[in-house]
Amino acid sequence: MQRPNDFPSWQKLQRLYGQTRNVHLRDWFARDPERAERYAMTVGGIYADFSKNRINDEILDALVELAQESGLPEKMQQMFGGSKINQTEQRAVLHTALRNRSNLPVVADGKDVMPEINRVLRQMGDFAGEVRNGSWRGYSGKEITDIVNIGIGGSDLGPLMMCTALKPYGHPRLRMHFVSNVDGAQLSDTLAKTNPETTLFIVASKTFTTQETLTNAHTARAWFLQYAGEPDIAKHFIAVSTNREAVAQFGIDTDNMFEFWDWVGGRYSLWSAIGLPIMLYLGEEHFVEMLSGAYLMDRHFIEAPLRHNLPVLLALIGVWYINFYGYGSHVIAPYDQHLHHLPRFIQQLDMESNGKRVQLDGNRVATATSPIVWGATGINGQHAFFQLLHQGTHVAPIDFIVGLHKHGSLPEHHEILLSNVFAQAEALMRGQTEAEARAALSAQGLPEERIGLLAKHKVFEGNHPSNMLLPRSINPHDMGSLIALYEHKVFVQGVIWGINSFDQWGVELGKQLAKTILAELKGEQKTQPHDASTSRLIRLYRDVNSDTRRL
Ligand code: F6P
Repeated sequence: MQRPNDFPSWQKLQRLYGQTRNVHLRDWFARDPERAERYAMTVGGIYADFSKNRINDEILDALVELAQESGLPEKMQQMFGGSKINQTEQRAVLHTALRNRSNLPVVADGKDVMPEINRVLRQMGDFAGEVRNGSWRGYSGKEITDIVNIGIGGSDLGPLMMCTALKPYGHPRLRMHFVSNVDGAQLSDTLAKTNPETTLFIVASKTFTTQETLTNAHTARAWFLQYAGEPDIAKHFIAVSTNREAVAQFGIDTDNMFEFWDWVGGRYSLWSAIGLPIMLYLGEEHFVEMLSGAYLMDRHFIEAPLRHNLPVLLALIGVWYINFYGYGSHVIAPYDQHLHHLPRFIQQLDMESNGKRVQLDGNRVATATSPIVWGATGINGQHAFFQLLHQGTHVAPIDFIVGLHKHGSLPEHHEILLSNVFAQAEALMRGQTEAEARAALSAQGLPEERIGLLAKHKVFEGNHPSNMLLPRSINPHDMGSLIALYEHKVFVQGVIWGINSFDQWGVELGKQLAKTILAELKGEQKTQPHDASTSRLIRLYRDVNSDTRRL
């Protein structure tokens, strides 16, 4: 298998990097007044400005050549067409079928998957309708008021992020809770706020074997049974899974199970039955709008030429920084408060997908892969980590994300928010020279010796890249488009690096070791040979908790 740095375009990009690395974005803007128009596009409801990147037409052309040489167009067709591109798990990758609003057949393993997708969507819609209109009642005849989603990773982050993002669309009677941590504190805190008579638990797990989720689900069940009887479970416990057998074994009636399939990756699953909390909270209509927004991005991705294809361009610009500039991290800075879970969601999407060092053929990759993705709401970040972005020694390209339209009725807030977003991107790009800093200080009337001391500290080198992603507002449709945009960006980068973006073997070893250690902590098994540090930690725990020790 060819490595990306074997392609002729790679050599071309290396040359272009050498030629342009010292050009300041300020100069690019000064020389090219059309830049902001040329390096921007609207897809669906999202306006994307990528002009504040260290790119020009020649660089973009060479990056697109790299995508061509990597076989991106064929790989896109394979993914959408149901080929088993997740080779290590021998699975198709068909989250795009879940939002295929054309309803045209999509075939995996010789079978059209659309009828099954539509069946589960209908089942979700009927169930959500009953809970929302109050006809689905708890064991004592009361309406459901609280929904507790128990799941982790992809079975948590997608629904949590979307329900939070789209809170203004939420049902006024329903309070959403998400429990993922096996630290009992999260579940206890949640149960303390809920009433068993009016609470619905969704146990969400693709495999239905995940220790954290099953432990929390068993505890929630035991709590519920303190107040109600076994037959009442049917009204209060729902499962979302691919594993029918394990659901039945747990004691949830499989009539109360919402199915999805092995070709839906965990971190790509919010469009499937894993999105049930989203549908319960927002209603079927809004859920379908979210699917439509994602479908629109899918069509753009599959139909637009690579050079005018938003997910492709964002991915290639990412590759430019990671592989040529050597920038190892990427910041997600949403400014809408309701998007505060978005950085965590994209972190899993990107890092669990592309945090790989082995190519599809088993050889070690020749280049860096996924960046370290991090971030927080931008306005809070401005008072925390933005100092490093402006004046530190690391460069981390940023995605600024904010809804354009005003919402809420508080005067001025949105303008203040937007002024900050635009100012940060401008400041990071433009920077401030020492001469400018001196002039500003002297305008304040500072004595020369103070100016001499301060001016150097007030230099901002600038030239810091960012993307500006502006949905019309944080609405279901544009959120669907936004998340699909990131999914495809991650896919494109995985193709360039020749890795499998859809497995996650890296989480396995820790899981296995934790099983052995758990038995040792509980005293059910004699201490196994570990390294000295781990053995000491196990002993320390057992000594501290010696009253519960059995061996
Ligand atoms: O962290 C590993 C992982 O497998 C994720 O990919 C997945 O989203 C999460 O665990 C939860 O898995 P499950 O839905 O099977 O409980």
